[in-house]
Formats: sequence, structure tokens, C-alpha cells
Amino acid sequence: MQNRLARIIKPKSGRCVMLAVDHGYFGNIPGALKDFGDLSPLFQHADALMLTRGMLRSCVSADFDIPIVLRVSAGASMLKELSNEEINVTIEEAIRLNVSAITCSIFVGGEYEKQSLMNLSKLVNWGQEYGIPALAVTAVGREMVRDYRYLGMASRMAAELGATFVKTYYCDDFENVTSICPVPVVIAGGKKLPEKDALQMAKNAINAGAVGVDMGRNIFQSDKPIGMIKAVRAIVHENASVDEAYGIYQDGPVGL
Ligand code: 5RP
Repeated sequence: MQNRLARIIKPKSGRCVMLAVDHGYFGNIPGALKDFGDLSPLFQHADALMLTRGMLRSCVSADFDIPIVLRVSAGASMLKELSNEEINVTIEEAIRLNVSAITCSIFVGGEYEKQSLMNLSKLVNWGQEYGIPALAVTAVGREMVRDYRYLGMASRMAAELGATFVKTYYCDDFENVTSICPVPVVIAGGKKLPEKDALQMAKNAINAGAVGVDMGRNIFQSDKPIGMIKAVRAIVHENASVDEAYGIYQDGPVGL
């Protein structure tokens, strides 16, 4: 378990930059994910990839050495009730794919809250049996407010249920989320923001106790995705300032 986790959260800095490209699992197919093009120039700069087994098959060469955080949940598209998820990949398949962690979403306060919490519990039980970390993603329903009370409660619940680490959204007073969550916390990026704002969010999250990011759209939808992931890395691993990181983004090539 610790060995696999150390492939994702790098022991040297205690931090990680995960690249999330699992959006298509509920029918959300933004930007560079549309064309199944070669994303490997971007993947090279990530500490780990979070994706579905379909993306793993189609977009990641078997000889590419990168830890995989495999989404093993699915159920409803974004046209229906998203919280209606179940576990759709067996642990045997996850082991066969040699993944470093398994992940699903929890929908605290959502219609299928209990089902999603039991999904996470299943991953935790599998993880305990086979030494595979379980990442809980605190998904936020449209009706939920993204504040520290809600995100802190959802993150803490994930940890209490046994998640090895938690992915949640950034919010004001984020230290009130990390301070009540006893396992490492990474932030999702959310919808595409201007690059400087996304870098500021990453900086704020790290300053508030996050160990890193699991960012998707703010990287692969950027006009300079390689510059952007390098800039995020500088903040996460090297404590760069937002201005320094923004310079790194600006120096990146246009497109992939
Ligand atoms: C959705 C997810 C996605 O991986 C995550 O939200 C994607 O990252 P971003 O918000 O940065 O595009 O887990 O439940």
C-alpha cells in the first residue's frame, strides 16, 4: 500500500501532480479529450494519471512508466442523476492493469449518497486485501454549496470510511478542510479558469495543506498545456510563486 502510494505522492516533496483525464466516463468530453490524439507529451510531466480503463487502453502505451489511478465507478451520464454510480471494474482487472490506486466518487448529500459511500467502502476493503490505495473523490451535486463546511465534511467522511487519500474541490478557508481530514488531500481543478487564476488556486491549496492537485481541464484545455502542467509542478513541488509559475506557463509551446 505505502509503496504504491509513494509512486503517486512523491516521497521527495511529499506532494503530487496528478493529471485527470477521466471526464468522459459520465459523458463530459472537453477539449483535448475529444479526438483521442496523442496526449503522451503531456502525460510525461504528470506524477500519475487518473483515468478510466478505456482511456488507459486507448491513450497510454503499455511501455510508458507512469502510475495509474484507475476510476472504477460509473453509472449515470451527466444527462441523468450523476450520484447513481456503481463499481464497474473488478479488483482482478485493476490488478491485471497494474494500477497504483483505485478511485470512485462519493456524493455526500446526493440522491444516491449511501450507494456511493458503500462503493467507496468496497474499494477500501479491496485495497486492504491487496495493498492498493483507494482515492475518494468528493463529487458535488448541483444543489450543494462548495464551502469548507460541505467539502470538509465530505472529505472527513471519506477518510473515516478508510480512503487512503481524498480529492476534493478548492474553496475559501481551505485549511478548514485539510485540518479535519487525517489523510492527504489533493484538489481538482474544476472548470477552466484563466491560467493565472488556476495557478493561484493551486498555490492557495498547497499553502492551506493540500499535498497536490489532480487537475484536468485547467491543464489540457489551456492554450499551452505543457507550460501549464510545468507551472503547476513548480508550485506543487518547488514552492514557486504564482508569478514564477505563470512565466513557466507563458514559455510553453502552443498546443501539444
Ligand atoms: C470528476 C473527476 C474528474 O477527474 C475531475 O473533476 C477532473 O478534474 P478537473 O475538475 O480539474 O477537470 O473526478 O468527478
